[in-house]
Amino acid sequence: EAAEKGGYPHFVIKEINEQPDALRRALTGRIRDGQLHLPEMERIEHAGLLNGIQRIIVVACGTSYHVGMLAKYAIEKWARIPVEAITAAEFRYSDPIVGPETLCIAITQSGETADTLVGIRQAREHGAPVIAITNIVSSAITRLADAVLYLQAGPEIGVVATKSFVSSVAVLYLLGLYLGQERGRINPEQMQEFLEALEILPEQIQQILDHANSEHDTIEPLARRMADLKSIMFIGRGVGYPTALEGALKLKEISYIHAEGFPAGELKHGSIALLDPETPLVGIATASHVYEKVLSNIQEVRARDAHVIVVATAGDERIKQHANDIMYVPATLEMFSPLLASVPLQLFAYHVAVARNCNVDQPRNLAKSVTVE
Ligand code: G6P
Repeated sequence: EAAEKGGYPHFVIKEINEQPDALRRALTGRIRDGQLHLPEMERIEHAGLLNGIQRIIVVACGTSYHVGMLAKYAIEKWARIPVEAITAAEFRYSDPIVGPETLCIAITQSGETADTLVGIRQAREHGAPVIAITNIVSSAITRLADAVLYLQAGPEIGVVATKSFVSSVAVLYLLGLYLGQERGRINPEQMQEFLEALEILPEQIQQILDHANSEHDTIEPLARRMADLKSIMFIGRGVGYPTALEGALKLKEISYIHAEGFPAGELKHGSIALLDPETPLVGIATASHVYEKVLSNIQEVRARDAHVIVVATAGDERIKQHANDIMYVPATLEMFSPLLASVPLQLFAYHVAVARNCNVDQPRNLAKSVTVE
């Protein structure tokens, strides 16, 4: 097993460090000569399955559901098709309104999550075309799908999803760009800009990891200081909101600390009552059209003496006066920011869990793949 961990103490940290490669594999062959190539999509398009699509439903669980939430922001923005993301266990019992005009996207790393499979089977029975995004070749979901987009992330052994999150987001974004292009909403110059930004993401993730693996790392020392926490909150707006949810999920899964994610604008509608000097807050404050709004939420929180940790874009000096601790990530397009912002949050969760002596690879009560209801 030590050999399988490739010199790392745990699979989780190995897989976090594998993200640049995993992401490269997700993009391999799909971006060529500045153009997007998704042969799987071209096939179903030629078969007429995408004609008349009026809406999209994304069905997924856990971390994959957070990817589904990002689908709403990305596909609605790029293709102007309405998207709903719903957890599979809710979807399957909701008597959903689906038919041939509803494209269903299943996101499941394992391809075996019971609720996702049942939900998607129902959608199929109603005539909905299905696209599966999965990491596992020939998994059960692939038999229910009209098209399969593989992550090609390599095996993920740690129970918590790390590299599969980043890969799923990338593949889903490629799908969103494809739909935007087909709908005539993205012109070739814009496409080029998106693809160039995507192609440098592996290198940008590597920069985050290199910094974290160097003597300049601030994440592990911060995590050690936070190891005795009782509770912590994560906030973000726009694509920073699913990023906040994913940051909170990672922390609770492997460190057992109570962590909750919120849309930043919802704080004042209840959760702000929980804030006190013992409850830190993590704000996703990377460069975006809602940056100022996030900043003002952070100010509200700081006024209540809460310890504020932010994820910010490199070069953002202004944030320094509003935060106790900062995790910087390289600059990218707003839509792609979750691919970078999630990495320091994974590292934070990992180091908190290690400091608490938790079983990071196999947290209590969790399974890698939930194949029963
Ligand atoms: C389990 C895992 C999570 C995962 C979820 C969905 O709960 O512990 O890490 O996100 O299942 O898994 P899937 O394979 O469908 O993406």
